[in-house]
Amino acid sequence: MPDTITLVSRRQFCAGACQAAACGTLATLSIACGGGSPSSPSGTPSMLPVLQGQFAGSNVRVTAAGSSLANVGGAALVESTAGLFLIARTSTTGFTAIDAVCTHEGCTINGAEGDVYVCPCHGSRYNRGGQVLAGPARASLRQYATAFANDVVTITL
Ligand code: FES
Repeated sequence: MPDTITLVSRRQFCAGACQAAACGTLATLSIACGGGSPSSPSGTPSMLPVLQGQFAGSNVRVTAAGSSLANVGGAALVESTAGLFLIARTSTTGFTAIDAVCTHEGCTINGAEGDVYVCPCHGSRYNRGGQVLAGPARASLRQYATAFANDVVTITL
């Protein structure tokens, strides 16, 4: 009889230990997935609008009128045959243009939180000028000169 009691106790112990381990694992997964951890990101990046750029000579031209670049603070991912660019309107006539290919492992950066660009692959964050704000990326994105006239942004490559 004492052996049976001991055996049941072991089973109960093992069952309890497994439940505790499972709960611990779930809690860890929940935290890793942003389930309420104080260190989880503050928000989900929004997808940038995609605009088409026209490549000619050594320039890429993008029409700002009627697009997300029409107002100060707007930004867009620009696709062109010359490559992918992130453009943001910083003032009435001022724009920034940077490469949209993440320097970490080459994903296309297509999200933003406020005025911060966010890579969808591993979460690297860049400012409008292309400097890394948070890794894993370590190198800045290349920045290009821009000009603005007649509602068209010109990126000089
Ligand atoms: S490819 Fe952008 S963070 Fe890894």
